[in-house]
Order: sequence, then structure tokens, then C-alpha cells
Amino acid sequence: MTRGSPDPTVIVDGTSFALHGNNFSYLFHADDGTGDLLSDHFGGSVTGPMPTDPTPIVNGWTGMSGRVRREFPDQGRGDFRSPAIRIRQSGAHTISALQYQSHTVVKGKPALPGLPATFGDENDVTTIIIHLYDKYSLIAADLMYSVFPRYDAIVRSVTVTNKGKGAIVLEDLASLSVDLPFGDLDMIYLRGEWARETHRQRRRIDYGLQGFRSSTGFSSHSHNPFLALARPSTTEFQGEAWGFSLVYTGSFAVNVEKCAQGMTRILMGFNPDQLSWSLGADETFTSPECVSVYSKDGLGGVSRSLHGLYRNHLVKSQFATANRPVLLNSWEALYFNINSNNLYRIAQESAALGVKLFVLDDGWFGKDYPRVSDTAGLGDWVPNPERFPDGLAPLVKDITALKAATLKSTKPSTNLRFGIWIEPEMVNSKSTLYQEHPEWALYAEEYPRTEQRNQLILNLALAEVQDFIINSVSELLSSADITYVKWDHNRCMHETPSPTTHHAYMLGVYRVFETLTTRFPNVLWEGCASGGGRFDPGVMQYFPQIWTSDNTDAVDRIFIQFGTSLAYPASSMCGHISAVPNHQTGRTVPMEFRAHVAMMCGSFGLELDPTELQPEERAIIPDMIALSEKINPIVLTGDMWRLSLPEESNWPAVLYISKDGSQAVLFLYQLGSKVNHALSRVRLQGLDAQDMYFVDGEGPYSGGMLMSVGLQYCFETDYASKVVFLEKESVR
Ligand code: GLA
Repeated sequence: MTRGSPDPTVIVDGTSFALHGNNFSYLFHADDGTGDLLSDHFGGSVTGPMPTDPTPIVNGWTGMSGRVRREFPDQGRGDFRSPAIRIRQSGAHTISALQYQSHTVVKGKPALPGLPATFGDENDVTTIIIHLYDKYSLIAADLMYSVFPRYDAIVRSVTVTNKGKGAIVLEDLASLSVDLPFGDLDMIYLRGEWARETHRQRRRIDYGLQGFRSSTGFSSHSHNPFLALARPSTTEFQGEAWGFSLVYTGSFAVNVEKCAQGMTRILMGFNPDQLSWSLGADETFTSPECVSVYSKDGLGGVSRSLHGLYRNHLVKSQFATANRPVLLNSWEALYFNINSNNLYRIAQESAALGVKLFVLDDGWFGKDYPRVSDTAGLGDWVPNPERFPDGLAPLVKDITALKAATLKSTKPSTNLRFGIWIEPEMVNSKSTLYQEHPEWALYAEEYPRTEQRNQLILNLALAEVQDFIINSVSELLSSADITYVKWDHNRCMHETPSPTTHHAYMLGVYRVFETLTTRFPNVLWEGCASGGGRFDPGVMQYFPQIWTSDNTDAVDRIFIQFGTSLAYPASSMCGHISAVPNHQTGRTVPMEFRAHVAMMCGSFGLELDPTELQPEERAIIPDMIALSEKINPIVLTGDMWRLSLPEESNWPAVLYISKDGSQAVLFLYQLGSKVNHALSRVRLQGLDAQDMYFVDGEGPYSGGMLMSVGLQYCFETDYASKVVFLEKESVR
């Protein structure tokens, strides 16, 4: 990062600020009279002067500060909308007056202390920091705006410093606040539950306060820290849309408020019930960051911007966009019923099918409190001596000596890799760790320690707990040739000793993630929290992929994966073929359909006992593995176009187009069969109209034809599917 003069992405004119991406502008200024920072525009590109808005007529109880669009609204001086910051001052009131003082422009983007954050060099991003100051309470707030013009993204965070003498308490703090002008808008967000994550919800924003939050301590299954706004006429492909994505793993709050005068305020940041952060004299506090993107190409445009930004400027792992090994996970195959013999047996079968990575899930650890069910063992990260008398090393050695069959695959033969499941932030009361350190679990005085899934949560706000986890995981990874870790997390937080524990825990968990992923860069880390309970950009900074849901039913997965893709790239998603009838829904769908849904994700694999496959299922797995390996690079790095949504169509479809546009892969599903009905037609998007494309080797057909006329396939049954490979004639 170097200091330098403003570039075309950040233009300062006195106290007016213009931030520009390739297709958007974000304008604000400091009011000459009040020093308040006022928003002028967040939308399509704007150049040249704008007329001065007429002064609103002030009539009634709401003064001027409640009628203007404010950039970082504080509280207590006549703006009755929700504030972005609420400070309990040392005098106990919650009034503040943060006024513009100065600004600094820096090329590149400063890191955020202890927090995950997008990154980039001076060619990628420019940052402006607006210094605000409350001369009455001597509190400074630095608003940081970093512009990634190529992704039409602005990333915002705020740092508050107490320059006064008394202690203050931060009661509420939003990373992002935007006031949009009067007009109709829809809000689109993700809701769900365990095994039913990320279902897309769209509704009109109405007068009053509406929003959603997580109070679970984590980003949660119920709501994701993501919000999109759209004009009512905006679709997947056209119209204005905005996306907001909080880079944080803890509880959060999203407030959408259409005020009495009709403007809409968006706030995204901490859940105020769980902050109450004290700042003594000269102490500083930095919020997580929030990414905002703008698109005039509909919700699909929002998603493509976020996907590109996250793949290239958020995920730190060397595997961010690297091809992922086809894996087999032992969970739905064997659950807790594991030993070296049955594991080796299914590893052998996996290798024979062409699987490249074998993952040993739950049930391998615990000495005095063996993990043979979910009632004991968490915290004792040593192999169960009855199941593995000589530790894990001999099993790992045997499994990694197996050669993955090539069969239909064109990839060179490799040895099987070994991966392992851990859940290090947790403890069972039936464990040696808990016997030795009951004070390491989260608890509040004498209140009962409520267990969930029979487990308690360790207090990662404590440095000794962080160190314990870092040491035990390091020892495990050094004990054998383990090159993949599934890091699970199966409960939420309650009985916390203080509201500040929530954020202190996050700082602790980020320290642990940062230390371990830096220490073991060659390990492919996967996040998990009972499936998608922690699918957020904070986790993605460290773990390039996240187990998307414990629901492996292919039909349900279509909804979950399409929903997740609103904010997150396919490279971060994991999909597995599981056995039928499905263990969560009882549904039976064909093997091909299961495979075609799973390979929509960047990490593809199996989660079943291969020795129990029906012959016809077994016969097509090598083809499915070969197909997944062929298309994986496009899925991982390509631009994603959701062509039709499962909420709206019996034929959901998605297209990924490689970065250079030379290849594409189309996923098309039929949910229910339609007897005596015209065939559906899928019209593609994002191709070059003039270029010619081979479609599964046939053609070539023009991009214009594929986008205007489209393709038709004849499906005869429920749960039918097709994966189609497109290639430009010019690259053949
Ligand atoms: C969680 C995970 C599953 C599996 C189990 C093991 O539910 O989401 O994939 O690993 O834990 O206990």
C-alpha cells in the first residue's frame, strides 16, 4: 500500500467525495453548516455536476436531520430513524455529534486488526478514510471506504477511538449504513433452519422497520448476513440491484427502515443485544467490514460481482480456485460405527471408483470418554485407543497408499489423500478436557450450562483456550499425512458471561483460524456448522469451502445451492451424492440427478457406503466423477448465471461460463414430470452472440441462437437432469 494522489476511483472536491466503480458511483459530502456527512447517490455511474436538491420543508416534529440522507447517522439530535452508532457516553446519555474533520486517501487497502477482510494491492483497490470527530465527547470515528472498481464494490468499516478521559460503551455499531432516496424497493434475503438453509425470500420494503438478525452467536442457519435490494421490476438479468454482505461470523443485525418521509435506510452490523463494548481512554474499536455491490444487470449481476470479489480478494487459501479432489466422506456411510477395518474397506472401494480423497468424519477420538456417540469425547483430540490401537498413522498410511482408479477419468492416477473431521470449539461434559477445565466452557455464574447436542461451547475469548485448540490441532495434523480438515461447529451460544463475550469469541476464533491456516497452508480446510450454520464471508477468508447443508437430498439441495449462490461463489460450496432413500427427507431420486446437483458445487464428492451401491448406481459413478472433473475448473472460476429459479420453475437451470468465455457448462433439472406438455426451453445468457459454440460436441450454434432460441431436452421422469458442455468453435 502506498500513499498517493487520488485516482479515478476516488475523487475529492473540497468536502465532496465521489467513489466510482466501472458501473457505479457513490457520492456523499460534508454539510458546510453542520459538518454532518450526507449521502448523495449510490447507483449507476454519474459524471459531472448534479443540481442541488431543494431543501426539504420542515414541518412537524421531525427536524432537518431526520429528513436528509445521512452517511453515518448518530443518535440523539432529532433523527428518529435507527442509528448506525449508539454510544453510551461517560455521562450516561447516548447523544453524539460526529462531524467531518478531514480525510485521507490511500492506494490499496489497510488490513483490519484481528478481523477477516477483503484485500488487494494498489491496482485493485483504493481507500478513502473520512475522519469524523465529536468535539463534545472527544470521540473519533474513521469511516473507511475501499473501492474495488472491477467488481463494482465498496467495502466499508468503521473505527471508533475514545479520545476523552471517561469510559464509554459502544451499544450499537453498524459497519454499513446507506440512506436511499424515496422510491419502491424490494428486499431479498436468505432464511432457513438446520438442513433447510438459504431459502430465498423477496418482499416489498414497506413503511416502518423491517429486517432480520442472528442472535445465536454465529451467522446462523436462520438468516445469512446478506441482503439484496432491487427495484420491483428487477429480475435475475436486468434492472438495478444492490447487494450487501457482512464479513463476519458472529451474531449480526440487518435493519431496513422506510421512514415517514419515504427514504430507506439500510444498516448492517453488530446485533446490539450482544455488543456493549467498553472503550477506556485512548482505546479503539474496529467493526467488521461490509461489502456493497451495485449492478444494473439484476440480481445475477450482484452475485457475479460478489463471487469474483470473494474468489480473488477474500479467500486467502492457495486452493481458492484450485481444482478440488473428488472425495468420499464417512459420515452418512458409517456415522459413529467406525473402526480401521470398515474405514479401510470403504476407502478401498472409494479408490476403486476413482475417488481422490477419503475423509474420516466424526467418531475417531476420545480415550477415557470415547466418541462412540454424540454424548462424549469432544475436547479430547486423541485417537480412540480401542478403535485405533496404534493411533491414526497406520490407517492413514494404508489409505494414502491406495491408488485412485482412473476408469473414465482423464486425470493422471494419484494416491488417495486423507482428510479428517474435528470440532475444536466444543466440549462434552463427558470428556477429560471438561473434567480438567470446566471453567473453559461458556457459562454465566450459577445458571445451568444448557447443553445442545449434549455439548458445551468453549470460551474462545480466553487466550488459553485458543492456545489449547491451536496446539491440539497442530499435533493432530503433524501426527499423520492429513491434507484436508473439516472443521465443524454444532451449536450456538447461550449462557455467555457478558454481552461482549460474543465479539471477543469472534476475535479469538479468527486468531485460531489465522494461526492454523498459516501454519498448515497445504491443508484444504473446509468449514462446517451443522451444515450451513456458519456460511459467511468471515469463515471464507480462512476456509475456501464450506459444507453447505446437512441436507443431502438433491431436490432440497437445488433450493439451498441456488440460495447460497446469491452471495457466495460455487467455489465455496460442497455437494455430495448420498444414499437413497435420503437420510434427511426419505426421498429417492436417481443417481445421475444426485450427481448432477452435487457437481454444481466447487467441491464434489460422495457420502455413502460404496459397498452398498446398487450395480446400476455403481456403474455410472466413474462417468459422474469424470464429468465432475472435466467441468470443475469452470464451476470454480466461471461466471454464474441462474437461468431459472427453483422457486419459480419446474426446470431450474444454471450456467457457468469460463473466465475467457471459451467454455461453459449448463446444469438443467426437471423436478416433476409433465405428461403431454410442451418441452421446456432453456435460453442461455452471457455468451458472445456472434461466436459459434459446440453443444456437447454438436453444432456449432451461434451464441445468439443459444440465448434467443435456447435449447430443449426431453425429460420423461421426475428428477431428471442434464449437464451440458459448451465450447467455442474458435478454441477447438
Ligand atoms: C455435523 C455435520 C455433519 C457431520 C456431523 C458429525 O452435523 O454437519 O456433516 O460431520 O456433524 O457429528
